[in-house]
Amino acid sequence: MSAQAIVVEAVSKSFAHDWTLKKKEVVHAISFQVARGECFGFVGPNGAGKTTTIKMLLDIIRPSAGAITLLGGRPSDPKVRARVGFLPERPYFYEHLTAEETLTLYARLSGVDDRRRVREMLALVGLDAARDVALRRFSKGMLQRIGLAQALIGDTELAILDEPMSGLDPVGRRHVREIILQQRAAGRTMFFSSHILSDVEAICDRVAMVHEGRIMLTGDVHDLVARAGKNESDVTVRGQGTLPPAMAHFSARPGDHHEGVVGNAALQAALDAAMRAGFAIVSVTPKRGSLEDEFLRGIGESLSALATKEAEAVK
Ligand SMILES: Nc1ncnc2c1ncn2[C@@H]1O[C@H](COP(=O)(O)OP(=O)(O)OP(=O)(O)O)[C@@H](O)[C@H]1O
Ligand SMILES: [Mg+2]
Repeated sequence: MSAQAIVVEAVSKSFAHDWTLKKKEVVHAISFQVARGECFGFVGPNGAGKTTTIKMLLDIIRPSAGAITLLGGRPSDPKVRARVGFLPERPYFYEHLTAEETLTLYARLSGVDDRRRVREMLALVGLDAARDVALRRFSKGMLQRIGLAQALIGDTELAILDEPMSGLDPVGRRHVREIILQQRAAGRTMFFSSHILSDVEAICDRVAMVHEGRIMLTGDVHDLVARAGKNESDVTVRGQGTLPPAMAHFSARPGDHHEGVVGNAALQAALDAAMRAGFAIVSVTPKRGSLEDEFLRGIGESLSALATKEAEAVK
């Protein structure tokens, strides 16, 4: 059995323009691998090519070039596809069916023991109480969760989720994060796309960052965050008198507090000097980098430059 759940090798995709039929390449020779059992984040801004890539993983569209291996086989093989759960970017359902009827339909299509599995899934996504409610009465967040339940109901080795947190409020997002972590803990490979870097940072083992159809970075989330580390700390001290030179720039706060940022190389000496001058150390918090810092560094552009480009692209 291959140790990789997904292998993408030099995959490109071009679309023909509706009128001119001129080809435009939107995914350019991307390669990445997802190991079995890991939680993998596929991140990038709007229009980066995430959904296009996911559609190719599922053989909904075919690559113009390159090769994809899924669970050791080909995405076009029905036996392989039966082992993959999928949440589309914009799922649609029969809206006159209730939550329970909807999941029963998907359980039967997936060939799993329907009654028990449907109940389990309703509980997992917190829709127990809405079991008899028709989907036309569901909120966006509830629809997103029924979509997630549908993707997981087949108890598959691999789940591919296109923007599972999209449109959810903070509580809903946390809920979905927990479900993804729980599925990973049960040994399932979880692959999902997102443009919310903090979600990816919180739950993924590894990420691929895609921008304008190219992979800009792949790596272990902890390594990337460490690489984006700031090497400085937020420091708060309390007391009266003259602060040592390394803290001369600190801002005064109520209750004789003073706070500011100190470089980690000078930190120990600065804290010693502050204590010698009669100050108490209230807190020292190392500043963390974030995936966002590393992503922006990787693409070498500011967010505002990205927004301008996006606006130009749709003109
Ligand atoms: N069927 C299609 N025909 C022509 N162009 C397409 C087609 N599907 C996608 N594209 C283009 O491919 C690019 C990538 O789109 P894609 O939907 O893969 O991005 P995405 O990363 O999923 O973005 P989002 O975060 O907004 O969902 C976009 O420029 C889009 O306009
Ligand atoms: Mg998309």
